[in-house]
Amino acid sequence: MRAIFFAMTLTVMSGLAVAAAPPPDPKAVEVIKELGLQESPRALRDMPGWKAPKLLVFNVQGPLDPRAPGVLEQLKALAPDAEFVLANNPQDMATKVANADAILGGDNAVCDDTVLAAAKKVRWVSIYSAGVESCLGKPALEKPNVIVTNMRAVAGPVMAEHTIAMMYALARSLHVSVARQARGEGWGGGFAGSQPQSLTGKTMLVVGLGGIGMEVAHRAHGLGMKVIATRASSREGPDYVSKVGLSDELPAMIGEADVVVATLPLIPSTTNLFDARMFARMKKTAYFINVGRGGSVVTDDLVKALNDGTIAGAGLDVTEPEPLPKDHPLWKARNIIITPHMSAQSDLGQSVRILILKEQIRRFAAGDKLLSVVDFKKGY
Ligand SMILES: NC(=O)c1ccc[n+]([C@@H]2O[C@H](COP(=O)([O-])OP(=O)(O)OC[C@H]3O[C@@H](n4cnc5c(N)ncnc54)[C@H](OP(=O)(O)O)[C@@H]3O)[C@@H](O)[C@H]2O)c1
Repeated sequence: MRAIFFAMTLTVMSGLAVAAAPPPDPKAVEVIKELGLQESPRALRDMPGWKAPKLLVFNVQGPLDPRAPGVLEQLKALAPDAEFVLANNPQDMATKVANADAILGGDNAVCDDTVLAAAKKVRWVSIYSAGVESCLGKPALEKPNVIVTNMRAVAGPVMAEHTIAMMYALARSLHVSVARQARGEGWGGGFAGSQPQSLTGKTMLVVGLGGIGMEVAHRAHGLGMKVIATRASSREGPDYVSKVGLSDELPAMIGEADVVVATLPLIPSTTNLFDARMFARMKKTAYFINVGRGGSVVTDDLVKALNDGTIAGAGLDVTEPEPLPKDHPLWKARNIIITPHMSAQSDLGQSVRILILKEQIRRFAAGDKLLSVVDFKKGY
């Protein structure tokens, strides 16, 4: 009896009274499953001192704009007892976050030092992107009562389409035909050093088998390729990946691949990972595609590897530096296709991000387990 009373008191004290929160949107439940998003092991209401949130401050810059028609209203409906405040930039945000329970926005805004210094009561930092480089090494975020979440995997399906498009454009020498067409040249003229290839039955290596890597692997397998992969913490992978190695097995595995796709976060162990020595281990006929972060590649080494025929071609959505200066030699490297960090963009707009953000706010208001918590020991 005493135990039941104690449990009931705790329930009310810990804010379970807010459990009248709306149920999850079935579409969100489906997307969370499809993207393989994991929830934190512990519910917020079980953390010491938990109380229902009163103030959420959103930065409007970045990959999700809460000012889009109807968005703010949908978000507010999930935490009706809280105040929602918008900030235009980090400076503005810093003036509004002193009592904020949550700060939300792009990584540059929410992890800005002035914002973090001012947000003394913050318990949830929500980053709208998968990459969290700007947030690493910030003591304010590594406190036990602060939870940081990101949007890992959310861009995976669209980015996988982009990656596959780049792969086939290289393999079918489409960039050569498109350039010839733009110059007004007619039929004929060869492939300017770009050998068309068939990819059926060939091998793709996905470096970084996470949310995005998994989507790329799934599509490549469906297109008749053998897929192998590396990841940091485990050898586990889905059926469609025939072998999963650990990070340090990359040098041994890279020579097996006809297409190497990097879908990595930028952390110390992935910075400058693809250098002259790594390119030298690739097949001369292989393509290198990077949609993770430009900092994983030694750019000068890639330019050389392309121009001297060490590898057959490259597709880059991310570069180092970024934006790539107009006169940078990477633009003119042999058999290269560069897109301006847009592989996550599509006609779907913000819809999936908003769906996930709504579910996160619903969970935050109810004191539930949040999704996609950043592990600062790993850096992603
Ligand atoms: N181009 C764009 O517009 C764009 C858009 C979104 C994201 N990105 C970039 O893509 C990155 C990945 O996003 P995501 O959503 O796939 O994140 P994710 O789900 O967290 O996946 C990251 C994966 O990388 C693996 N990994 C980490 N270090 C590794 C290493 N040294 N060698 C091999 N694998 C390693 C991890 O392995 P474990 O699973 O074993 O931990 C994990 O599977 C982001 O961090 C961001 O930088 C780019």
